[in-house]
Formats: sequence, C-alpha cells, structure tokens
Amino acid sequence: MAPDPTLVAKLSRHDQEGLLRWWSDLDEPARTSFLSQVASVDYDRLDVLIQSLVHHDEPTAPRPDQVGAVDVYRLPQTDGERSARRHVADLGQESLSRGEVAVILVAGGSGTRLGFDGPKGTYPIGPVSGATLFQIHAEKIVAMSRRFGRPIPLYVMTSPENNDVTQKFFDDHDHFGLKHLRLFVQGQMPAVDRESGKILLSSKSSLALSPDGHGGTIAALNEPASDGGPSCFDEMAARGVKTLFYFQVDNPLVKIADPAFLGLHLQARAEMSFKVIEKIAPDEKVGVVVTIDGKPQVIEYSDLPAELAERREPDGRLQLWAGSIAIHLFNLGFLRRLASGDIRLPFHKAVKKVPYLGDDGQVVAPTLPNAVKFEQFIFDALPLAERWTLVETDRANEFEPLKNATGPDSPATVRQRMSDNFGEWLETAGARVTRRSDGSVPFGIEISPLYALNAGELKGKITPGLRVESSLYLP
Ligand code: UD1
Repeated sequence: MAPDPTLVAKLSRHDQEGLLRWWSDLDEPARTSFLSQVASVDYDRLDVLIQSLVHHDEPTAPRPDQVGAVDVYRLPQTDGERSARRHVADLGQESLSRGEVAVILVAGGSGTRLGFDGPKGTYPIGPVSGATLFQIHAEKIVAMSRRFGRPIPLYVMTSPENNDVTQKFFDDHDHFGLKHLRLFVQGQMPAVDRESGKILLSSKSSLALSPDGHGGTIAALNEPASDGGPSCFDEMAARGVKTLFYFQVDNPLVKIADPAFLGLHLQARAEMSFKVIEKIAPDEKVGVVVTIDGKPQVIEYSDLPAELAERREPDGRLQLWAGSIAIHLFNLGFLRRLASGDIRLPFHKAVKKVPYLGDDGQVVAPTLPNAVKFEQFIFDALPLAERWTLVETDRANEFEPLKNATGPDSPATVRQRMSDNFGEWLETAGARVTRRSDGSVPFGIEISPLYALNAGELKGKITPGLRVESSLYLP
C-alpha cells in the first residue's frame, strides 16, 4: 500500500515529508496505524506554533508597566467577615444539594519530578494508612455526596499513556465507593526538533507525541466517548450539572467542592474562579494571578521576570502575591463556549529531552534538551471569562502538593503537613496531641475523609480529653 497522495502532498507543503522516510520498512498493520497518527495532526496549527515558538521564540513576558495586582476576596479576619463567608457558603450548599456540581481531577501529567513508576494518583501518601492520592480524593467526594444527599460525579483526566492503568486501579478498588466515575483521555501534540521544527519520530511507525497540557481538558471533555456515547459535557448537562470544581492530583489537602468557594463563585455569577494563596517568596514555584492592562491573567512561575516577582508594597509584602494553587470553578456553559468557539487557549512551549529516531533508524536518547513540546494551560481561560472571582485560602490548610522525590513538596513534607493538620483538628475537637517544640507532630496522624472532612465533623466523634501520644489513624 502506498501512502495517500493527498497526505504526502500535505506533508510536503508543511515541510514534514521526512515523517514517511521509513515507509518501505513497515509492514501493513504498522503502515495503517502510522497513517492514522500522521493524518490526525493539525499541520496548519502546528506550523503557526513552529513559526512563533520555535523559529522566532516570540517573547511571552508582558512589559512590567502593564502588570498590576488583582482584587482578591482575602481571608476573613473579623467576626463579621467570617459570618458573611458562612452565609455565602449556603449558596454553595444549596447548589450541591441540587446535584449541580461535578468534579474534574486532572491526572494526565507524567510526574517526572517525583520519579514514581505509575500514575501520581496511585502514590501512597497517607501518613499512617498509606492511602493513595486517588483514594483520598475519591473518599472526599463520597463524603461530600453523603453530606448533601446527591452523588457528585467525578471525571478524571488521564493521558493515553496512563489511562488504562488508572482505570484498572479504580476498578480494582471498586471506585472507592464513588457512585459516578468517568475517565476521559486528554489529547496529544507532536514534539518537534528545537532547531529545525521537524516533527520527531519515536519509532519508524510512530510520532513522538506528548500530552497537550491541562488546557487540553476543555477539548477532551467535549469529545464523544470512545464507544460513540455522549461527551462528558453532554453527560454533565443531562445530569443537571452547572458548575465544575477542578483540581490537580498532587494536592491531598484540597477542599473538594468547598461550599464557601462555590458560594462566592455563584454569587458573582462568575464563569471561572481561582483559589489563591499568599506567595511566601518571590521565586516560589506557583503561577501568579495578576492584571495585564487591567485584565486578570496568570503568569506561570517560569515566565515571571525577577523584576516583577520581587516588586514589593511599601509595607514589604510582595505586590504580585496571589499564587495560584490550580483549584478552580468553572461555569459549564463557559467551558462549552470555549470548546466550540473560535478563541482557543494559547500554546506554551517546553524545551525538553525527547528520545527520537536518528538518521540511522536507531533511537537516540539525548543528553541535552533537543525538542520543543507544546502545551495549553487551563488558567489561560481566565482572561476569556466575562466574570471571575479570586478567593484567598490558607496555605497550611489547603496546599501541600506532592511534586518532588525529596526536599520541598515531597512525600516527607506532605505527610508531615497532613499529620500536623489532623493533629490540629483533634485539638479543636478536644483532644491533646503531643507536639515537638517547633509545633510539629512527631508521629503520623491520619483521619479518613469518610470519618470526618474537617475539625467540625470530628467534634462529638472523639472523647474530649483524648490524649494522642503515638501514631493514630481514624478510618
Ligand atoms: C502547576 C501550575 C502552577 C501552579 C502549581 C500549583 C502549570 C503549568 N502550572 O505547576 O501555576 O501554581 O501547579 O501546584 O500547570 N497535567 C495533566 N496533563 C498535562 C499536564 C499536566 O493532566 O498534559 C496535570 C498533572 O497530572 C497535574 C497538574 O496537571 O495534576 C499539574 O501539572 P504539573 O506539570 O505538575 O504543574 P506544576 O509545574 O507543578
């Protein structure tokens, strides 16, 4: 079989005809699958990206004078503010009771920095039980569903590489009691040579593809199911879902479907909302929410010029302090508009080491970054929203992500933070917990979300005066 002449002509128009150079070495099944891969690439879009991000490397950083701070609902400080926050949480609770909220968990990343062999969600992080990230997240959703008397559906975004193993993991654990779980697979983009812009091959019959970033969530939610069934968006609409709570797999402290956050989002009739924390240091690795020419936008930490990162207010605090912890709410209609409209999220480039097929037909493992990958980021939806809310949360209670094998944001720091926080819940509920002189808890403490979702729920479940002097797990 010869390749389709129209496709050959298209490849040559886009300067990518080299993709077919091993054609005569391939057997028929390999040819068929390779052709469908090659034909699925949007070459017009890729050309634009290669021109702007590979050949010209257009600067992405805004001019410092364009950038300013954003308005954020700060943490409540007074009794009045706390009571107003409780009041607005009613709106969120009512929406949960009406079954209008679905949860999106993005877990398509490769987790390279953690160096764990398997999807990050299967990492055993519970300080005592060794519960995995997926278990902790799923049990929070089960507990919230019970509390509000309506099942909250969970949609998990995977990548083509980790979808099957993720599905098997959930199946092996009976979906951790979730009433509605659906995995959906994100798209991929070809990696290109950083000098020539040519698409790299990973073998004679496959392109070097990589996940298209969590911005790919929007397109992936809009895709029909692999069996031709309804897209996730259609399914959500049919269930009466109006708001999506979005979060990343790596943060076990996330307050899934937090009613107060939901309430503020609904009250403002926002299309997209963010939880932010106050950055502790200019070089902290979190994206920062700012205004650019008056419009809210996120600048990723790797794109934030030092001059901006270090800007301070007269009182010494960082001016651009609103660190994004990648917890969002979306109005379903807004995301559907983005999925079907002409405006697309921009692509960012990542220069990485990508193994590729060399001229001699052998795979080369580069020692230096040789390739450009293209990724969309979900937070780039913010400037496209007509209304938004930004809500500050407390870092200690809601953000301790698992990113690295050692050092900051590693299993050790995450488990310590979990134990410290659970220790605090127990104290609030009337227990006495042994602590080190620096205030940290010297052993593991863990409370399953099915036992209690917060200190308030723990009250009445433990004996007042309980002494916690060694490792404790409340399942
Ligand atoms: C991310 C954010 C950063 C934020 C920080 C908070 C980006 C680009 N930056 O940084 O602004 O302050 O988290 O912890 O996201 N994922 C996919 N598919 C992909 C790529 C990623 O599903 O193609 C998922 C991962 O599984 C993970 C999440 O997105 O759940 C974050 O990805 P990661 O690359 O770890 O982002 P960070 O650099 O940590």
